[in-house]
Amino acid sequence: TQRRPLIAGNWKMNCLRADGLALASSLAAKAKEKGALGCDVLVCPPATLLSDVVGVTHGSAVAVGGQDCHAAVSGAHTGDVAATMLADIGAQYVLVGHSERRADHGESSTDIRKKAIAAHDAGLIAVVCVGETEEERDLGATLAVVNGQVAVSLPEGATAKNTVVAYEPVWAIGTGRTASVAEVAEVHAAIRAELVKRFEDGNEFRILYGGSVKPSNAKELMAVEDVDGALVGGASLKVEDFWQIIESCA
Ligand code: G3H
Repeated sequence: TQRRPLIAGNWKMNCLRADGLALASSLAAKAKEKGALGCDVLVCPPATLLSDVVGVTHGSAVAVGGQDCHAAVSGAHTGDVAATMLADIGAQYVLVGHSERRADHGESSTDIRKKAIAAHDAGLIAVVCVGETEEERDLGATLAVVNGQVAVSLPEGATAKNTVVAYEPVWAIGTGRTASVAEVAEVHAAIRAELVKRFEDGNEFRILYGGSVKPSNAKELMAVEDVDGALVGGASLKVEDFWQIIESCA
């Protein structure tokens, strides 16, 4: 199966307007200049910048996504953003279930499944994030935890076209500590098996790795079987670094 890789930048709660627009415009310009890329490219800015980033990346290969969405279409949910609202301003993707949402906002895999359904209903591609904590890894529970998250977080209607899975070991996020190639390979193979077991097109789903991906390790990680791209935090805030990660897919 030829799966086209996806390199996604999660800006998290970073970038004021000037910096965010400069970053997005530089990426769009580079993508236009380069022409055909070896992967799909996605940026997920904070909600305040989404609309403007859609504007400056328009017509380029850089797609835009939200970092979260609510499960409901509308209603009394102060501070939340609906998937329909993201689609309405031109976003094509949304991250759901990032470990920072799971930890900071108590989101369960059941909540995340509802968000993924809302994303699909709005015509968005849901990037469903999963990953074990350091404690769970030390207990030898990694595969059980990750498979459990995949099983519950992905709704019945998930397909390779509307869903991407992102594996991010929590202990590797923002720590500079990357999972080893063997660790990544083991978990990605387990996720693939779970997807193939449950979905007809399970072999077509893209599975991204995230956790301290940087230019120096991107090539080796992207070469791992069943790694179909990266979800990049810190290094996605620097044009040159993010671009080098994109080029690692060439
Ligand atoms: O969503 C991105 C990840 O949480 C990875 O963040 O690249 O800063 O480790 P990081």
